[in-house]
Amino acid sequence: MLTNHNEKGMYSFNIDKFYQNYLKGPKLFKNREALEPSFIPDVLPHRNSEIEKIAGITACALKGDVPPNFLCYGMTGTGKTATVRYISQKLAQHSTNPPWWVYINCTVVSTPYRILAHIYNTIVGKEKIPSTGLPKDVILKKLLGLLDQYIKDGICFLVLDEIDILIEKKGGNEILYNLTRLNESLDHCRTSVIGISNKLKFTESLDARVTSNLEEEEPIVFKPYNANQLYDILKLRAEIAFKEGVIDDGVIKLCAGLAAKEHGDARKALQLLRKAGEIAERNQTKKIMENHVEKAQKDIDKDHIVEYIFSMPLQAKLTLTAIFLLSKYTKEHIITSGDIYEAHSELAQIIPNVKQLTHRRISDYINELALSGLITAITKSMGHYGRTKIVKLDIEFKLIERVLSQIKKVKEYRLLNYKPIILQTNKVKIKNVVFKKLI
Ligand SMILES: Nc1ncnc2c1ncn2[C@@H]1O[C@H](COP(=O)(O)OP(=O)(O)O)[C@@H](O)[C@H]1O
Ligand SMILES: [Mg+2]
Repeated sequence: MLTNHNEKGMYSFNIDKFYQNYLKGPKLFKNREALEPSFIPDVLPHRNSEIEKIAGITACALKGDVPPNFLCYGMTGTGKTATVRYISQKLAQHSTNPPWWVYINCTVVSTPYRILAHIYNTIVGKEKIPSTGLPKDVILKKLLGLLDQYIKDGICFLVLDEIDILIEKKGGNEILYNLTRLNESLDHCRTSVIGISNKLKFTESLDARVTSNLEEEEPIVFKPYNANQLYDILKLRAEIAFKEGVIDDGVIKLCAGLAAKEHGDARKALQLLRKAGEIAERNQTKKIMENHVEKAQKDIDKDHIVEYIFSMPLQAKLTLTAIFLLSKYTKEHIITSGDIYEAHSELAQIIPNVKQLTHRRISDYINELALSGLITAITKSMGHYGRTKIVKLDIEFKLIERVLSQIKKVKEYRLLNYKPIILQTNKVKIKNVVFKKLI
């Protein structure tokens, strides 16, 4: 049995006790899956008009006719995917010969070749087409044959979710053109394309002929939810997910309010509720309290920061590393864009094949980092030193250190141990005295 303190008197985690206590603790969840993004509830509050429009467009499939292609737009978490999946279930319930649905998430299945292979494999229910190898027109031909053979004179919906990602890819316009024109080459089966996009203006990067194929109907626009609407959505989900009496309305309202501030994203609202429940359960409390929601929000923010930094281009990561190093070695030091430029140049020289950047480019990266909330950058006029940006890290020092230390190049070249030359000279101290006076 493990003890809390080993023979050297050092703290050690007692996993056995932890699990035993956890098991004895209150159980808050009844059905945790109800808070997962993939869960489709029986009712979708505040999506009546969208459901009505899509039901109208797709109804002819019930009588064996081919519905027009159409697009759904809206920011993330506005219920686009859930609504389309909901419609697919309802159509199946009301059909004697239910339509086929092939669902393609373009962030996962992201090349024209893989989309064709995915449609083919989904219909046959096996990995028949390898994920690379065949020429595209060969698969297209095979797919046409398969649709006629398997689906016969039925309808097949092709849902292209996150379609905006596909347009940015090579061959994106062409594959969309092909998919929206399949019916011309089919003898029996009929297909209908539903495109779902998080970007409202994505058709600007589409060929006009593809746009007109995709917009055979007026696009359906999904508006962000407000706090009251999110409350209704969360309330219903909480009833399915939690045991009775575990969560009060006030706590649900708090989750709804916090998520409403972030563009009315229902996915975030549900994530917040789930995390708050998990924190409460780990703390062995009988109810989910407001402080669990606040802690959950902090955890989610941290996760986003980490994801965001990992997704930045290397030069932006190095700019952030330069700022980190300047703040690490002298807490008192005022960091200017000029300092960042110099520290970045030194870092760029350490890593092979990384270019030094101009003042201008560094300034662009500083603006981007400021926009994302990682730093604050205030432009100041410094008398005869000219205009400069004064930069400060805006997130926890420990967190940023932990994230940067996991970046491959930063780790490989031990950049976090590097001390910028600019911090080693007296000149800097003098400059800082001057700046401090001016600020
Ligand atoms: N009106 C609604 N009622 C119930 N749950 C909803 C509603 N709108 C969205 N959701 C839920 O919020 C989450 C995100 O919705 P989703 O359809 O994935 O958004 P989008 O595809 O627009 O990004 C899912 O878990 C979904 O079930
Ligand atoms: Mg979606």
